[in-house]
Amino acid sequence: MDFDSLDDFLNHSQNRVQQYLNTAISQRRASGVLSQAMAYSAVRGGKRVRAALVYGTARACGVDHASLDPLAAAVEAMHAYSLIHDDLPAMDDDALRRGQPSCHIAFDEATAILAGDALQALAFELLASAQGPHMSAQQCLAMVICLAQAAGAEGMVAGQMLDMAAAHDAVSLAQLERLHSLKTGALIVASIEIGALAQGQVSDEQRLHLRSYGQAIGLAFQVQDDILDIEGETATLGKAQGSDLMNDKSTYPALLGMTAAKQRLLELHQQAQDSVAEFGAAAQPLVWLADFIVTRKH
Ligand code: IPE
Ligand code: IPE
Ligand code: MG
Ligand code: MG
Ligand code: MG
Repeated sequence: MDFDSLDDFLNHSQNRVQQYLNTAISQRRASGVLSQAMAYSAVRGGKRVRAALVYGTARACGVDHASLDPLAAAVEAMHAYSLIHDDLPAMDDDALRRGQPSCHIAFDEATAILAGDALQALAFELLASAQGPHMSAQQCLAMVICLAQAAGAEGMVAGQMLDMAAAHDAVSLAQLERLHSLKTGALIVASIEIGALAQGQVSDEQRLHLRSYGQAIGLAFQVQDDILDIEGETATLGKAQGSDLMNDKSTYPALLGMTAAKQRLLELHQQAQDSVAEFGAAAQPLVWLADFIVTRKH
């Protein structure tokens, strides 16, 4: 299938992953409320950038088949869990997410914590069960390890710890870059690596280029998120503008000023574009996604 534009590609990715996640959650015999809370946070809304990165990277490496759907669903389930927990009163204490009350507001805190836990477990189940005609058990194992490392104590969770610890504190640019690369970049890089692992025979050189692309857009994604916390509007963002200011978070604009934060975004965009140049037309969706990540308004 060919795509005319980013919207075309994103719509296609959103529809595929949404459908797969909806079925995956409703097929599991979770209690009514738990299942509702999981679906509430994982199925509705979201830009689905991480799913699109799985599909886009696999495509850049020459692969597109239905067995990518559980991989895309896995990274989005992991992401949805991280957002539920991120919004809890003990963390950012945000009441709005994806244009609707956050999970702990729509349900209650205990249900939100448990829905997040269950979505995290679901992510690993989906990857571990993705074996089929196009995917070997070895590939699935490599994906499970990749996601576990990116999400856990050396990845996203480490980043969230640093984020909480750095509130009200002055951090250096190197510390902030590390924090952002962990809390947001790690899962974005993992989405790309999982897309590449689906191909099975990506060369070391290609993997390095994809990694460099992922590191650039992963950091850029959080820099733009920080900028939108200041310049965005709650209605467009679907989450409360000004949350970082309210929580006195360490962000790019707070540390460097808005002009330098936007300059950093441009540098990262260039790094991303250069990194996938050698993939040619097959990487067009990855090029569009890099453009989107630095210009998005929500
Ligand atoms: C929000 O991620 C959390 C961050 C890592 C900055 P997204 O902006 O991708 O959120 P959704 O999935 O589109 O709601
Ligand atoms: C969240 O970063 C990163 C996660 C791992 C969830 P933020 O706290 O900046 O995300 P938003 O702004 O609430 O979406
Ligand atoms: Mg946070
Ligand atoms: Mg937050
Ligand atoms: Mg934010």
